[in-house]
Amino acid sequence: MPSTLDNPLREGVRLEKTADPCTVIIFGASGDLTKRKLVPALYRLTQQRLLPAEFAIIGFARSPMSHDEFRDKMKDAIVTYSEAKQVDEQVWESFAKGIFYVAGDVNNAEAYQEISKLLNQIDRERGTAGNRVFYLSTSPSLYAEAIQQLGAARLAKPEGKGWTRIIIEKPFGHDLASAKELNTEAAKVFDEEQVYRIDHYLGKETVQNLMVFRFANGIFEPIWNRRYVDHVQITNSEAIGVEGRGGYYDTAGVLRDMIQNHVFQVTSLIAMEPPISLSANAVRDEKIKAMQAVRAIPSDQVNECAVRGQYAAGAVEGKPVPGYRDEKDVKANSQTDTFAAVKLYFDNWRWADVPFYLRSGKRMPKRVTEIAIQFRKAPLQLFKSAEQVIEPNVLVIRVQPDEGITLRIGAKVPGQVTRIRWVNMDFRYGASFGVQSPEAYERLLLDCILGDSTLYARRDMTERGWEIVMPILDAWQNSKEEIPKYEAGTWGPAEADELIERDGREWRRP
Ligand code: BG6
Repeated sequence: MPSTLDNPLREGVRLEKTADPCTVIIFGASGDLTKRKLVPALYRLTQQRLLPAEFAIIGFARSPMSHDEFRDKMKDAIVTYSEAKQVDEQVWESFAKGIFYVAGDVNNAEAYQEISKLLNQIDRERGTAGNRVFYLSTSPSLYAEAIQQLGAARLAKPEGKGWTRIIIEKPFGHDLASAKELNTEAAKVFDEEQVYRIDHYLGKETVQNLMVFRFANGIFEPIWNRRYVDHVQITNSEAIGVEGRGGYYDTAGVLRDMIQNHVFQVTSLIAMEPPISLSANAVRDEKIKAMQAVRAIPSDQVNECAVRGQYAAGAVEGKPVPGYRDEKDVKANSQTDTFAAVKLYFDNWRWADVPFYLRSGKRMPKRVTEIAIQFRKAPLQLFKSAEQVIEPNVLVIRVQPDEGITLRIGAKVPGQVTRIRWVNMDFRYGASFGVQSPEAYERLLLDCILGDSTLYARRDMTERGWEIVMPILDAWQNSKEEIPKYEAGTWGPAEADELIERDGREWRRP
């Protein structure tokens, strides 16, 4: 093993933020996430010199593999999945020297002794200073076991100097009871400050911009409430189907997979009050306070507040695609939701009687995540000619793709008669900044290493998300009715339109 002095990345390191030396130990290292996201993100951070030279990765998984075999696999992964589709050989050479592998079972205590030995050796030889991030990315059924084993192996609390943190990948529980159980297991072994529950939507640049948009500008906050806002729509649509993850997805569905976590996180950033500071707890206090105000959905009113759907065969982006039930590892009579729309109310002064309509689905016409704040119409119809339809102003915050913000306003069409056309005032990230936004996982991994948990979900938020959706999940589970279908490549089942049209409103077509 090389000494830190042999590490060329040590020279001339200039960090914008200073990350401590550390080792990231990835549980589930032979899985998809490690290849697609984690190792490419850590490599990019190294390449940008945001991580110190005293950095190492230990991959931990069942398949037997040597350090070198794992390094080769990770190199291929970076080439395949990184934006650049190549490695910088000089950076790679040094990065690869810090990559190690341990083969073993999550429930085998000996494996943890081996990890512990290797960690100490890496600390000595690479100067990683006893700082550790454990990343749980195994099958979620193993999370509790991994946490207990880490505790038993005395790996959970730093001994002597250094810090220890644990990142828990989603899904965080399968329902409220299992999420609580996992939080309880984690709390037996780790302090809350050590636990980082990842929600990659919080790492997206445009999701972070929601706070900047609301709280660094003086003009929006005064109108960000029931006096001016008619309703809010949050759309998260995907063109893809279940992409070979049918086995997992069929036990989850979109309400579990997307809405109770990602969509609620975005919702809380729109609904929250201004925090007193940007500290992790100040921000998370306001987010949870907003979500605590969400009106409970009575079990006998689920149909008025929530709609589910499942895609049938159809065509997406011009290509024919099979129905959900024909996907690999999906039950032939599956009742799993691949689309859901939910109407929420916040019982607080800011949002009382302003509905938030949320929807998410797979195999929809395109991939879009956007937030639309629809304002109340002008109070008086001054422009009364028959042609004039007065539309509401809409502020659309586009999270992905084509990240940007648009305000829809009425403008006079040039000419002798007064005619109004609805036009967009546009801000586009790409055009304005001309730089690629960093990958969510880069930001989140770096934040964890820096000890900043602002963009991670706190314990109370994970449980609150489940609490809100439980009446819906229970009603769907007990329903004798066949799940409504929608043709792949459409905006969900007819029932979703009815949900919003009953209120005299309609879904936007993003
Ligand atoms: C994941 C879900 O958390 O988010 C996937 O499990 C989904 O089903 C993905 O496709 C969407 O993420 P993104 O960043 O592509 O919007």
